[in-house]
Amino acid sequence: MRLEILATAADVAQAVAHRVAGSIRATPSVVLGLAAGHTFIPVYEALRRLHHDSVVSFRSVRTFNLDEYVGLDGTAPGSFRRFIHDRLIDGCDFTPSSIAAPDGCAPDLDAECRRYDAAVSEAGGIDLLLLGIGRNGHVGFNEPGPRPIAECHTVVLLDPTRRANAGDFGGISHVPREAITLGMSAILQARAIILAATGADKASAIAAAVHGPITPWLPASLLQAHPAVDVYLDRDAAAGLPGVGPHQP
Ligand code: GLP
Repeated sequence: MRLEILATAADVAQAVAHRVAGSIRATPSVVLGLAAGHTFIPVYEALRRLHHDSVVSFRSVRTFNLDEYVGLDGTAPGSFRRFIHDRLIDGCDFTPSSIAAPDGCAPDLDAECRRYDAAVSEAGGIDLLLLGIGRNGHVGFNEPGPRPIAECHTVVLLDPTRRANAGDFGGISHVPREAITLGMSAILQARAIILAATGADKASAIAAAVHGPITPWLPASLLQAHPAVDVYLDRDAAAGLPGVGPHQP
């Protein structure tokens, strides 16, 4: 894992956005994997600005969202599809048929998982995957457990995960109990991965992911086995790493 430790979350957003824009400029038909989550709000804002300033065009880019809540359609508040549309897609020049997301309202969720894995494979896999990290070390919605799940799958969300996302739903009781997520296979087969984390509440998950044992009980640690992971951190998220220490504002 290559670590990039920057002063602030805004610096992380700029660095990640420029890195993504550089990949698109090098390969306009790049296949991106997209995470939702608060970490990526300023990243997507920065990418939209780069598009507005004609630094990057998304016309030939394909995208695959990482995950979605079960029971939310793509227009529902709290839906990750809506999040990525509102924060990134709208206002940029993506080609609508090149945008893909798992359907949390599919009548047969197992069939939806198979369809979504097949769609990623047919696109040739993900070239550049944007990943956040949960406080419990989840990536996408691959929750900690006894073994990693390779395929796209539905998952019962753990309480800490639902609590962390409660603010998006007006309280934990409104957070969906299940989600659909790309599995560890599609994630680890991505040709390059950007893992971004900001804020002190991510520091222990980051320290364990980067320096702890590789274990499915902390899914982000599995990224240690990937040859091309760049980890972008602000000083607060990096505070648990050896030699970094807490951020002095
Ligand atoms: C969420 C999502 C992930 C996201 C991560 C961190 O629950 N499933 O896709 O990257 O957890 O979210 P945030 O950036 O809001 O802390």
